[in-house]
Amino acid sequence: MNKQSPGGDFKRRIRSFVRRPGRLTPGQQRALEELLPRYGVGEDCSDLRAAFDRQAPLVVEIGFGNGQALAWMAANEPEKNFVGIEVHEPGVGRLLRSIEDDLLDNVRVAMRDGVEVLREQCVPESLDEVRIYFPDPWPKKRHHKRRLIQPPFLELVATRMVSGGILHLATDWAPYAEWMLEALAEVPNFTLQGESFVPRPQWRPQTHFEQRGQRKGHDIFDIVCRLVR
Ligand SMILES: C[S@@+](CC[C@H](N)C(=O)[O-])C[C@H]1O[C@@H](n2cnc3c(N)ncnc32)[C@H](O)[C@@H]1O
Repeated sequence: MNKQSPGGDFKRRIRSFVRRPGRLTPGQQRALEELLPRYGVGEDCSDLRAAFDRQAPLVVEIGFGNGQALAWMAANEPEKNFVGIEVHEPGVGRLLRSIEDDLLDNVRVAMRDGVEVLREQCVPESLDEVRIYFPDPWPKKRHHKRRLIQPPFLELVATRMVSGGILHLATDWAPYAEWMLEALAEVPNFTLQGESFVPRPQWRPQTHFEQRGQRKGHDIFDIVCRLVR
């Protein structure tokens, strides 16, 4: 497992994404202009909890894609605050539109690399849950170093989570699922729920990429673990 990884502490960090320009619809463009100032978390925010005007358990989803799963979860768990993190502008625009249309007042959005958000905008022991669904699998061996889930990244996640907090990962790429288990085994304090994979928990809806994987005949792997200090 490559140690020079997305959570690694070196100057020219390898990122887990490649910025794709992506065409914005007029609605997404408007959402970015008008709604990001209202629901976005600026880079000057040093504690994500401060982005809300109430205290509530904080859930972070990294790489929310088109954001439809996040909007569904936020509507279904109104007692929690959610911060979605995504670098792909059209996806951010789409989620912002859902926040407005569905009157979601418990969602904020950070349009930034999730590793940087965890490092610079989350204080230690402030996150109750971290959810990462269908992160880019980077299937070619020479690209494995780009995978988001790596021991140094998980160590960073662990410092940001409260004791008893839940980390939930899902993938449709079997070799990445095994890789995730190996990475987790290297980080003390993460205790798996069950032996390895679990059935999809009721709080996670099917995501866009999951459905795409299923159409290709892929199996789905959910991993749920608890942080214990
Ligand atoms: C394969 S897609 C999955 C999207 C969504 N979770 C789903 O299941 O439909 C992975 C997403 O993660 C985003 N991503 C990858 N690395 C990221 C990072 N370090 N910070 C924020 N977003 C990231 C990508 O832009 C992409 O939209």
